[in-house]
Amino acid sequence: MRHDQSAGEPASRGFRWALLAFAVAGTIGAALRLIYIVEIPGMLFRPWLHAHSHVAMLGWLFPGLLIGLCGQEQEGMPRRFWRLMALSQLLVLVMLIGFPLQGYGAVSITSSVLQVLVGYGLVRTVWLRVHDWPQHGSGLLARLALVFQVVSTLGIWTIGPVLAGGLAGSELYYWSIQWFLHFQFNGWFWFAVMAIGSRWAEKQGVDVRLDAPTVVLWATSAALTFALAIAWSERHWTVLAVNSIGVLLQLAAAWRTLVLLRRTRVQLRTSTSPWMRTLIGAALLSMAIKVMAQAAVAVPSVADMALTLRNHVIGFIHLNTLGAASSILLAFAVMRGWVNDHDRRVRIALSSFLLGFILSEALLFIQGSLFWAGLGMMPGYYEILFSASALLPIGLWILWYRSLRAEWADQRK
Ligand code: HEM
Repeated sequence: MRHDQSAGEPASRGFRWALLAFAVAGTIGAALRLIYIVEIPGMLFRPWLHAHSHVAMLGWLFPGLLIGLCGQEQEGMPRRFWRLMALSQLLVLVMLIGFPLQGYGAVSITSSVLQVLVGYGLVRTVWLRVHDWPQHGSGLLARLALVFQVVSTLGIWTIGPVLAGGLAGSELYYWSIQWFLHFQFNGWFWFAVMAIGSRWAEKQGVDVRLDAPTVVLWATSAALTFALAIAWSERHWTVLAVNSIGVLLQLAAAWRTLVLLRRTRVQLRTSTSPWMRTLIGAALLSMAIKVMAQAAVAVPSVADMALTLRNHVIGFIHLNTLGAASSILLAFAVMRGWVNDHDRRVRIALSSFLLGFILSEALLFIQGSLFWAGLGMMPGYYEILFSASALLPIGLWILWYRSLRAEWADQRK
């Protein structure tokens, strides 16, 4: 069951800094939706979009998932880990200032590159920590997650030479960015979420070991589905065929995982609070919808829709990052007592977050499908989408503030 850890402990403090980055990224995200309704002086869409995605991915999910991986162990992480974490977050703060001021410029590019290097140090420290985890359970999933994190950065190292070669805006430039995003979303985030869940279940004495064929199916499909990013510019049948094989393997992996989860759900239920179950449920449902949506892309006409409609692309990104990864991290924080679901304001904040997520995702996909069907825009679409999106950062700021108050209360004890 839950074991409350003092709000002042390094892990809970590290998590609170990541939660602050999440609230900041969510506020920028909501402002990006407000831009469609009113002009915000001095706020250009693209530079702030880059600030949003970098702060969300590198300031919230990267540290959040690392803390989720190593934060379940009694033994705390070495001081070196927290120093690197602080340096990484400092570099994210530089990106938050650099991108809006200059877009992709010297400050934002230098801080992004340095953050990748600091990230390798953090990944190595967690790799050593998960060394003695069950090699056929959470240990394998955690190591695959860390491998995919490192593999994704190969896309970043490719961008420099591509630009130096005068290939800005070329297919290779575009594939390099997509390589990073693809292996972040379908590799690092996905396997880290599965590893965090599996390690937690192991700690409850529940055997949720994914068998080797299932893990191989997940990993192979993560690699093959990169073909969809290639298909964006090379819509050759062989490329689409590779993606189709990838999504079918993923469907098989998802089915085998579902069978395992159904077998253990009663045991797991006893170890969870209602809010943990709600957040885990939101994450599992988002993962299931993501797998089915990707499977649908094996149908050429659906692939066309997925490749051309920005609403669906953005909806898909947030299904993964908000629905799956962020909800699991919030469930983890509830389990650790860093987010206190006995506090009524915390429950209101979690409700606001989930409602904002469900409504904004539904609106993105419904409006995207209306565009596809040639039925135009629903009345008040941008206003409704902004109102729904604003619920996300509102919930996150309340969560962050309540956890800060908990630390103050702790210090006064
Ligand atoms: C917390 C609430 C969030 C809100 C309100 C939000 C909102 C947005 C908006 C409005 C866009 C631009 C959509 C467009 O171009 O049409 C966007 C793009 C994006 N967001 Fe979020 N987002 C949130 C959380 C996240 C999180 C947690 C992540 C990842 C960790 C994330 C990653 C991205 C990415 C990668 C893009 C696309 C960037 C690009 O095209 O360059 N967002 N988000």
